[in-house]
Amino acid sequence: MGHWVTGVAVVSARAPDGRPCGLTASAVASLSLDPPLVLVCVERSSDTHGCIRAAGAFALNVLRADQEDIARRFAAADRADKYAGIAWRAERTGAPVLAAALAWLDCRLEATHEGGDHTIFIGEVLAGAGGEGMPLAHFRSSFARVAP
Ligand SMILES: Cc1cc2nc3c(=O)[nH]c(=O)nc-3n(C[C@H](O)[C@H](O)[C@H](O)COP(=O)(O)O)c2cc1C
Repeated sequence: MGHWVTGVAVVSARAPDGRPCGLTASAVASLSLDPPLVLVCVERSSDTHGCIRAAGAFALNVLRADQEDIARRFAAADRADKYAGIAWRAERTGAPVLAAALAWLDCRLEATHEGGDHTIFIGEVLAGAGGEGMPLAHFRSSFARVAP
């Protein structure tokens, strides 16, 4: 699967105490147009997994080509300061949306399916938007750029 080129997103949610949590994810896909559904595969042992389950919601934040630092930060486990210095707002579900993301989707948790050591979280898209710019990509364990 390392040869399967992907975009890079921060999947975010709120912990029961309101704390924003999130992780870097590439296992993201569009699932359905009507209704609008997306899916993300999240490792069960991650902090964010518990946040999504508890909140019943998550947001997908598509990262820009120049946001490799954010991707690395949100890929670090046991890091309490992932959001330090990063502007975000709570969207309709309460899930954190990063102000500088290339695009975002606010999702209500619609269904979950267990898959090995990950859970497939299926979200109904309640809102979203995208801006101008190029995305961050990931290929063979390295961050990559998409040529315009
Ligand atoms: C490029 C990249 C893609 C990743 N994709 C996923 C993914 O799709 N699902 C997942 O559970 N973890 C993925 N990870 C690993 C998580 O970001 C990592 O386990 C993180 O530390 C979990 O943070 P948390 O425990 O604070 O939730 C990816 C990491 C990188 C660098």
